[in-house]
Amino acid sequence: MTILEELTELEQQARQELADVIDLAKLAEWKSAYLGKSGAVTRLSRGLGALPPAERPEAGQRVNAVRTALDAAFAEVETRLKHAARDAALIAERVDVTMPGRRPRVGRLHPTTQVLRQIFDIFAEMGFQVWESREVELDDYNFGLLNFLPNHPARDMQDTFYVEMPPGVPSVVMRTHTSPGQIHAMHRYAPHPLRVLLPGKCYRNEQVTARSEMMFHQFEFLAVGHHITLGDLKGTLSNFAERMFGHGARVRLRPSYFPFTEPSAEMDISCFLCSGKGCRMCKYTGWLEIGGCGMVHPNVLRNGGYDPTVFSGFAGGFGPERIAILKYGIEDIRWFHSGDLRFVEQFG
Ligand code: DAH
Repeated sequence: MTILEELTELEQQARQELADVIDLAKLAEWKSAYLGKSGAVTRLSRGLGALPPAERPEAGQRVNAVRTALDAAFAEVETRLKHAARDAALIAERVDVTMPGRRPRVGRLHPTTQVLRQIFDIFAEMGFQVWESREVELDDYNFGLLNFLPNHPARDMQDTFYVEMPPGVPSVVMRTHTSPGQIHAMHRYAPHPLRVLLPGKCYRNEQVTARSEMMFHQFEFLAVGHHITLGDLKGTLSNFAERMFGHGARVRLRPSYFPFTEPSAEMDISCFLCSGKGCRMCKYTGWLEIGGCGMVHPNVLRNGGYDPTVFSGFAGGFGPERIAILKYGIEDIRWFHSGDLRFVEQFG
């Protein structure tokens, strides 16, 4: 076989193989097999020197022509394969913009927080500022300064969580109500008038049941100033009840006793389910009990730094869980801190 015949055959073979190349890796192999330094075409061109001088020019031209033709064929296939690879990558990462999105899980506010924020809004409009007070409290603030006598039953070990302290250090408790915040607020503002709302967690060593928890929230309101009367307390509560429970909600005060108020009252609101006609929720009384209140006791005013002959005030305390229970018909107070999403997700 002459070198020219060999070249023709080689070109044919190379083109056939190139037609079967399907990816860039195979293409690189093809290139080094035919056009590389030790490829077939290069090998043939090295053989040119052994030809008789008369045959060399034509053979040389043919070799160059074959190389050029194969180079061009290579470039064409390379371009095609590169485009195909790019298209494949684009298809792989294709996004269907018409597909409905995945709904992000949106957090919600706990029902207690929702009720508290509603309460803040209502009282803020009446000039009360929110004041956070401590949860771990000196015994004296929780009881003594609030006019509890030393042997008052509320101090009983069974109700109060005492914090273990070194001997000789004053007794410390987990606050059993938000009322000690009254003393802190008065110390901060006396002798100026004040209106504060004191929300927060309280603790009582109680049997946990559907109706009572060891930890619960309260909020306390306190107003101290000149000429504050029981009428102001009733007006404040009426406004609160209407805003919280809807138009037409009424307030009833029943005489009661708390060490830190005189006179003291239990506060009822008219049942918003039956509008006072009587139903299961209000146990057919037409009224729902929601908290305690009264006129600040002169001793408490004095302990807070106010002169009770010049200043007077009213105060009250409620449980936001109790309000949420009534408002949303929740059957078990233990749900509040159960951490169960099925519960909290109901309060959008
Ligand atoms: N501290 C009382 C309790 O935990 C609630 C209370 C009653 C607060 C009367 C007050 C008040 O400020 O005036 O049961």
